[in-house]
Amino acid sequence: MKELSKLNRYLWQYKKELAIGLLFVILSNYFAIRQPKIVRDTLDKATEIIEQYQSGDMPIDPGHVTGTFIGFGIKFLIFALISGVFLFLMRQMIIVASRKIEKQLKDDIYAHLQSLSMSFYRKYGTGDIMARVTEDVANVRMYLGPGIMYTINFASNIVLVLIVMFSVNVKMTFYVLLPMPVLAISIYYVNKLIHDRSTILQEQMSRISTYVQEMYSGIRVIKAFAAERKVIRAFEGQSSEYRNKALALVQVNALFIPLILFLIGLCNLITIYIGGQLYMAGGASAGNIAEFFMYVGRLTWPVAAIGWVTAIIQRAAASQKRINELMDIKPDIVAGQVDPGNGIHSLEFENVSFSYPGAKRKAISGFNLTIRPGQKVGLVGRTGSGKTTLVNLLLRQYDPSNGSIRVNGIDLRQAQLMAFRQMLGVVPQDSFLFSESLYNNVLWGGNGVDSPEKVEEVLQIADLAKDLDGFPKGLHTLLGERGITLSGGQKQRLSIARALYRQPQVLVFDDSFSAVDTNTEAKILEQLNRKKVTTIIVSHRVSTVMNADLIVVLDQGRIIEQGNHKQLLDIGGYYHSLHKKQLLETELSHAKI
Ligand SMILES: Nc1ncnc2c1ncn2[C@@H]1O[C@H](COP(=O)(O)OP(=O)(O)O)[C@@H](O)[C@H]1O
Ligand SMILES: [Mg+2]
Repeated sequence: MKELSKLNRYLWQYKKELAIGLLFVILSNYFAIRQPKIVRDTLDKATEIIEQYQSGDMPIDPGHVTGTFIGFGIKFLIFALISGVFLFLMRQMIIVASRKIEKQLKDDIYAHLQSLSMSFYRKYGTGDIMARVTEDVANVRMYLGPGIMYTINFASNIVLVLIVMFSVNVKMTFYVLLPMPVLAISIYYVNKLIHDRSTILQEQMSRISTYVQEMYSGIRVIKAFAAERKVIRAFEGQSSEYRNKALALVQVNALFIPLILFLIGLCNLITIYIGGQLYMAGGASAGNIAEFFMYVGRLTWPVAAIGWVTAIIQRAAASQKRINELMDIKPDIVAGQVDPGNGIHSLEFENVSFSYPGAKRKAISGFNLTIRPGQKVGLVGRTGSGKTTLVNLLLRQYDPSNGSIRVNGIDLRQAQLMAFRQMLGVVPQDSFLFSESLYNNVLWGGNGVDSPEKVEEVLQIADLAKDLDGFPKGLHTLLGERGITLSGGQKQRLSIARALYRQPQVLVFDDSFSAVDTNTEAKILEQLNRKKVTTIIVSHRVSTVMNADLIVVLDQGRIIEQGNHKQLLDIGGYYHSLHKKQLLETELSHAKI
């Protein structure tokens, strides 16, 4: 229950709705409980008339009798109607409030998730986060809506029914209520069984969906390895497991209704037996027996449902615990307040060192670099030398462990992060595309302004324009999930176009030409060169960086050489040997063709 107290803040906002809802529940129950009394009066009246008729003392007016009974009927109907109207209004209050709270909760979680940094997303899987935002919020909503509503409803109903019953006949009430504790306890146990088994079933369900999701994202690998049969067999295993667990749940579920019916039957039996004895002894009327049947009816459903409501609340508490866990995570990257200003006039890395959380080795150590406006800087080094890490640090997805990165002289940790990132155009190493049209993927890079001419232009620069004819709907072709319908090179070029569309102050390419052939690469770079944008080009290929103003060679997170292409060749060190090796590779591949 401690976990659920976090929700009180939301509930408090809807205190008016909840209070009115409570009033409506009581009114609805009040009018419902008046009905059995009408039945009693009707039967007692009927008994009286029959006795009158049999004794023959007074003549009977059939018109008057009919009128009396129709009167009872109408009264009964009106009470049922009023009770129903209040029930409707109560749901309108409480369930509507719960849906509103659900939305707020979801929005809050989503906004919080957006504020969390990359280190969070490395730790929590997509499936886990999804489950918390959807299933867990749904469970909590069940508590906020039905949970609270039925608790109020049942509690007020039980209290009102008991008051009426005791006021009508204490002895009969006592006997009729005898089986109730048995009913409550046995239903609690059956409910617990149902709860346990459905939890197991849910876990199995999420195992299946995680499995299926992963297999579909990896469908290319599955096909390539001809592993379909293996995957099908594994799925069949999981799904028979699900069937068995579902059948176990059906078994206890099947027990539930008969159990309730049996116990209601028992209560009714007692009503007839004890009521009959009292009737013969003159302690109760026929109407009393009929009215007690109805009270028992009104009492059994709430008692039976106590277990159900308890289960809802328990489940909500467990879910809220998981939500609280998420909400309590503080973002480790918090944006600063200082406005970086318009444009990027300088970017400096000063003695930057960094190791990933939990990693033993430093990914970057003692890195120094100053980038001037309009400069083209190349970063080369073999895979794992720390190039992507530098890009991550520049984007402030992580903060350096030592040293600082400054934009226009302001430490990134103090700068307004959004404003800074909006000035960058990044082509990440894994070119992620959204499952929208090509056109929209390009627009995605912009700041909300659509310009078809601009899209055309950047596609031209990224050398993707020539590919468009090959797509069924050209620019408006929908890409599959993550751009599955494109080749690796097309994906990279589309990512480049997206970054260009942004008209950034600084362009960052992280190995963005790895799947593009060297001729196309040269063509794109040539066009980019004409633009006087500050550019950071990361590559493991010499050909990508050789025209840069400054080339920095990285190894194991350290700068080992720097200078321009010619200077580096003259040094005759690592860069030189890398160049020679890659030239040889190109020649060999040409020779093969
Ligand atoms: N998220 C991460 N957590 C821990 N270590 C990482 C992570 N990403 C990269 N590394 C490590 O940091 C080093 C530099 O990696 P990276 O910057 O990706 O190299 P490059 O881009 O030059 O190929 C490597 O040793 C790599 O294993
Ligand atoms: Mg990399």
